[in-house]
Amino acid sequence: MNFLTLKDFDKGFLEETLDLAVKLKANYPNYAQSLKNKTLAMIFMKTSTRTRTSFEAGMTKLGGHAIFLESKATNFTLGSLADEASCVSRYADIIMARVFAQEQVEVIAKSSDVPVINGLSDSFHPCQTLADLLTIQEKKGDLDGKKLAYVGDGNNVCNSLIVGCSKLGMDVSVATPKGFEPAEKSSNLQLTSDPAEAVAEADVVYTDTWVSMGQEKETEEKMKIFPTFQVNKELMAKAKLGALFMHCLPAHRGLEVSDQVIDSEASVVFDQAENRMHAQNALILKLLEVE
Ligand code: CP
Ligand code: NVA
Repeated sequence: MNFLTLKDFDKGFLEETLDLAVKLKANYPNYAQSLKNKTLAMIFMKTSTRTRTSFEAGMTKLGGHAIFLESKATNFTLGSLADEASCVSRYADIIMARVFAQEQVEVIAKSSDVPVINGLSDSFHPCQTLADLLTIQEKKGDLDGKKLAYVGDGNNVCNSLIVGCSKLGMDVSVATPKGFEPAEKSSNLQLTSDPAEAVAEADVVYTDTWVSMGQEKETEEKMKIFPTFQVNKELMAKAKLGALFMHCLPAHRGLEVSDQVIDSEASVVFDQAENRMHAQNALILKLLEVE
């Protein structure tokens, strides 16, 4: 079984994964041998801090091993992606890949005999959403009926949040400038170009970079369009009292979020980052059918 987008998974699987993540987080010694002699191969076509570190440290915690394969230091661009991925799958028990087009992670999955996890593509970031759901559950209890407002660029992180939150019964409200709406749609989704409208009654206010990796050419245009979509103190004040502030990181302080908000009591960004490891470890155990 591959984990390429949350669309392929039902509510039950996501809830089981979150439950297992809670158990792991509370008691790693119980799982210290769970992935003994197992190897995760990590293919990176883009840079990373959290994804690499959380997967690699996570494998160590479960008694396994991770190999970092940076695309420029390997032969992924000399040989065909399918051939190179086939070879990696002969050595590894599971693969995680961070790619540009979603089709690239699909090619890797087709060529692989072992499960493949999407560690971010231009379209989706499902591991991030899994960690975010774990974080919201920790802070707010039940996910059902809660409202997440996403303000900014309708990107990969936004798409995965729409899918994951909707599957777990949350309402999602997304405010983007016109022309930057997310590709994903859902019956629980409200779209607007007014950040204040999106955050009204929100339990969680979420933002991400205005310029994702691979889109650097759009920077100049976006810097003119996006400033009114900054999450600042004034916008947070329009959300529900006690609303969380979330960001997948890396954050561009002073652009999509003010220092005051990301450093405030409402901000749970480092819990999100930590939860990447626990959520992904649970996911790996489930994909490998260890738990
Ligand atoms: N949030 C996230 O995926 O961070 P990195 O790009 O640093 O891995
Ligand atoms: N949307 C961002 C997320 C980084 C974790 C990007 O794709 O660059």
